[in-house]
Amino acid sequence: MKDEFIAACVERRNELLGKMLPNSVAVVPAASLVTRSNDTEYPFRQNSDFHYLTHFPEPDAVLVLSNSEEFDSQLSALFCLDKDPQAEIWHGRRFGAEEAMKKFAFDTTHILDDLDIGLASYLDGHENLYHARGQHQATDELIDHVMQQLREAPKQSKIAPAVIIDLRPLLHEMRLFKTAQELSVMQRAADISSNAHTQAMQCCQPGHNEYHLEATIHHTFAMHGAKHPAYGTIVGGGNNACILHYTQNDALLNEGDLVLIDAGAELEGYAADITRTFPINGKFTHEQATIYQLVLDAQLASLQMFKPGNTFKMANDVAIEVLTQGLLELGLLEGELTDNIDKQTYRAFYMHGIGHWLGLDVHDVGNYKVDGEDRPFEPGMVMTVEPGLYISQDAKVNKKWRGIGVRIEDNIVITEYGHRVMTAGVVKTIDEIEQLMAQ
Ligand code: GLY
Ligand code: MN
Ligand code: MN
Repeated sequence: MKDEFIAACVERRNELLGKMLPNSVAVVPAASLVTRSNDTEYPFRQNSDFHYLTHFPEPDAVLVLSNSEEFDSQLSALFCLDKDPQAEIWHGRRFGAEEAMKKFAFDTTHILDDLDIGLASYLDGHENLYHARGQHQATDELIDHVMQQLREAPKQSKIAPAVIIDLRPLLHEMRLFKTAQELSVMQRAADISSNAHTQAMQCCQPGHNEYHLEATIHHTFAMHGAKHPAYGTIVGGGNNACILHYTQNDALLNEGDLVLIDAGAELEGYAADITRTFPINGKFTHEQATIYQLVLDAQLASLQMFKPGNTFKMANDVAIEVLTQGLLELGLLEGELTDNIDKQTYRAFYMHGIGHWLGLDVHDVGNYKVDGEDRPFEPGMVMTVEPGLYISQDAKVNKKWRGIGVRIEDNIVITEYGHRVMTAGVVKTIDEIEQLMAQ
């Protein structure tokens, strides 16, 4: 584990402790393994909040942060699996309490067997308990149990926190703003992902299967240091591109169709989230190029709006105007521009938002509204910009447009005066795509 990541986690824990009310405890659970079938499990993915504060990679651990006015002290403690030679032969190495304390810079560590009693003594006497209820059922039940024990202690010898506060608003506000260190990891994730999309364009051929392109993408991720995708990769050929979160990825790629790939690598827990759409045979038809160019125009116009002070709504309004105007000119919509925008007729073809926060989760945490108002962008926020048009086979439009689905998705970071595109490593103009695929 890199020391610089551990140091960042210590800083974050201290920052969080400083933001918590005096005399409080926070409890943050790690994720647990999830059964895939019978006695096999899905690949383990750490809980993002826990990862953000610890970088500790094992399941079922519990982080406890406590600040106490009385002793003018702050403490960060970890409960983790005990060393167990037999279990480690079967299931893998564990740090154990002693090693975890040294390597991950906790003030103190305990084994999970002591969690019940240990947590009770950490909670005892504190006024507030910060916890993200509903995130991890076993921890919800544990906390209920421990709180009840404290309340029922003989002759009120123990004191349960009287106030339970949702930890998420404090922690997720921190996660929304990326540090230079986080941005550098996210840039690497973006570069690896851009590379993978480039590879997919270069090796795509009619007659291949969607999952062949998926394999190329995942292979490229892995060969460049990203073991996992950040979310279920989408490879949709032809009409499948019109299913927004299509993950079946098992249809043939047909001559003359487009393919939409939405894929991003996960690196050190951080996601990239890129979509590119290109012709399976390397050459856009006239109709495909027309729709593609319209989406690209909308993306480029809306990108201009991504700067401090502006909002997702302002950026989306620009995309909507470009798309709606274009759909009118092509005869896919009818009537006046403003009327169509007011009635949201474009939603038949553009039915999702312009983007979302990006970070440890692909749809990252952080409020989109503040005091009921759309949240203005600020430097350090990372997000996607991803307009699309989806004209399915069932659409009641001229047949020549049917089965064309296009999304173009980039990742950006807001800077002092504008934004920086993090995913410029993969081409997106029609000429660039055709040239790359012709090579
Ligand atoms: N990959 C999911 C999304 O673009 O939001
Ligand atoms: Mn995406
Ligand atoms: Mn996205």
